[in-house]
Amino acid sequence: MKILLIGANGQLGTDLHSQLQKAGHAVTPATRADLDVANPAQIESCINSAKPELVINTSAFHNVEVCETEPEQAFAINAIAVRNLALACLRHNSELMHFSTDFVFDGAQRAPYKETDLPHPVNVYGCSKLAGENLLAMSMERQYTIRTCGLFGSAGSRSRYGNFVERILKRAAAGEPLRVVTDQVLTPTYTNDLAQAVIALIRTRQYGLYQITNEGECSWFEFASKALELRSISADIQPVTSDAFAAKVKRPNYSVLSKERLYSLGIAAMPHWQDALARYLALKT
Ligand SMILES: NC(=O)c1ccc[n+]([C@@H]2O[C@H](COP(=O)([O-])OP(=O)(O)OC[C@H]3O[C@@H](n4cnc5c(N)ncnc54)[C@H](OP(=O)(O)O)[C@@H]3O)[C@@H](O)[C@H]2O)c1
Repeated sequence: MKILLIGANGQLGTDLHSQLQKAGHAVTPATRADLDVANPAQIESCINSAKPELVINTSAFHNVEVCETEPEQAFAINAIAVRNLALACLRHNSELMHFSTDFVFDGAQRAPYKETDLPHPVNVYGCSKLAGENLLAMSMERQYTIRTCGLFGSAGSRSRYGNFVERILKRAAAGEPLRVVTDQVLTPTYTNDLAQAVIALIRTRQYGLYQITNEGECSWFEFASKALELRSISADIQPVTSDAFAAKVKRPNYSVLSKERLYSLGIAAMPHWQDALARYLALKT
């Protein structure tokens, strides 16, 4: 398939690029220098010249704290740009895949959120991503919206200055004491595993909203502890609750996503996050 990949040098974009190529797809990678999604003229000319059958948009404005103080920018990239991508895809008869987030939910639930559960974001980032989902769903039929959660991949998140695992290991190696929250529960997700599921999904041409993460769930404390254990690093790590930090931005306390809709297509079960973390760390040595 001819694919235009936007955000190709990001954390997810990097692994998607290599996995899509391995799967035999013809990928045109676009970084922000090639295509700024805030610029509708650039969207049009890039899609016009690449002539993709599928556009995959991994770009986002997703530093949660910065979104809170720059809501215009958050909505420009996470919502308005998605609408403009959809309109350009319609003009060029391309499918569109877009990535969203567990942060569309408020975290009040204690069982995995389904695609059919009512979103209720608690911060600007989540609101802007939900707006992007809705603008995409109302704009075109041949679209995939993928909610995911807690990404870690070899490139490290560009807008978050590396991923959580890298930050924890670096701070532990520097002998810093670590305080990590126990009251935010998620499913950490390896971008290589997400890329494999995406490749299986685009074969089906079953469009719509899907949630894709690894299996299992844990708190950020359990996630950090497992990374340290797998690296045999003994660190000064303390479990704390969110109250210990004077956090300026609300985050959902529970954001585990059900993958039933993905599995209903016959796509193989995602590996457990602990297995994914071990494979990720093994590749990093
Ligand atoms: N990271 C997570 O834990 C997480 C969790 C849930 C959902 N998600 C979603 O998953 C997707 C991928 O996340 P990620 O971790 O791979 O992010 P990332 O590493 O920050 O990559 C985002 C990419 O988008 C590019 N970009 C940003 N603004 C752009 C613009 N205006 N025009 C074109 N490109 C632009 C960035 O380029 P520059 O760096 O050059 O600006 C970067 O290459 C996003 O939609 C995010 O909302 C992520």
